[in-house]
Amino acid sequence: MIDAYQASSQARVNAALDTLFTAPSPELGRLYEAMRYSVMNGGKRVRPLLAYAACEALGGAAEQANGAACAVELIHAYSLVHDDLPAMDDDDLRRGQPTTHKKFDEACAILAGDGLQSLAFSALLDPALSDCPVQIRLDMVSALAVAAGPAGMVGGQAIDLGSVGLKLDQDALEYMHRHKTGALIEASVRLGALASGRATAQTLQALQSYARAIGLAFQVQDDILDVESDTQTLGKRQGADIARDKPTYPALLGLDAAKTYALELRDQALAALRPFDAAAEPLRDLARYIVERRS
Ligand code: IPE
Ligand code: IPE
Ligand code: MG
Ligand code: MG
Ligand code: MG
Repeated sequence: MIDAYQASSQARVNAALDTLFTAPSPELGRLYEAMRYSVMNGGKRVRPLLAYAACEALGGAAEQANGAACAVELIHAYSLVHDDLPAMDDDDLRRGQPTTHKKFDEACAILAGDGLQSLAFSALLDPALSDCPVQIRLDMVSALAVAAGPAGMVGGQAIDLGSVGLKLDQDALEYMHRHKTGALIEASVRLGALASGRATAQTLQALQSYARAIGLAFQVQDDILDVESDTQTLGKRQGADIARDKPTYPALLGLDAAKTYALELRDQALAALRPFDAAAEPLRDLARYIVERRS
């Protein structure tokens, strides 16, 4: 079920994303090529899937969330391009291919990341991708800006880089993970829900609880896979966290306790969806997938 849903949602978001990288002039060809390279290179598309699934959970059609789905993936892709830079995690491999700064150069990768961040907001506001009332668009822009910015993902990345070699306690580790990864995952669910045009304070609250749990679970599983997966399956270098002495859940709790914690978070997410009917099944499947995935 999740496989078919995943495949059709990936195809939907890929088709929409594919329209966004046409250089307006030949001078910008390399920049646009680097942006396209950084986005149209596989990737699980978990954030777009969450946006579509949240929209559908509230009775919307998945297509209504196309702008939201593109926007969250563009922010994510930008965060990965910058995360891999030598000044940050210094990684050579991403999604099974050379990282953007390896394929192009560092300056180009910095600018491609900057460009992708702006494109995300353009996509969210693009009537060709999805149409929705102005107030909803403003709510979406505001949520995405906060989640991507210094009080969200960028803040989490700052804490991550400032914590290399330090022993964080569990509260500090959770705070970092909720920011660097959780915030954008929460925004993906929120934007999808808003795009349905049917969100209420109550449904947003329940979806927020769901997203908070899977947002943390996602990074716990990412940390686990760094320990026990392999480079080929991951498409990025296995053991990179250990090599760089990054604070992670397996490092703090041990591998088994980290796995148990990921499953607890999945159960919290599923519990938050109890008020929802069968339309929330894709969201439920995604919660399971996030802690069972091998890449
Ligand atoms: C990796 O994200 C970076 C984190 C925030 C943990 P994903 O595991 O979603 O990477 P892709 O998009 O599938 O490559
Ligand atoms: C990345 O976390 C979070 C981002 C905001 C990009 P990681 O540094 O753990 O992601 P990977 O393991 O390189 O994909
Ligand atoms: Mg990192
Ligand atoms: Mg990294
Ligand atoms: Mg990681």
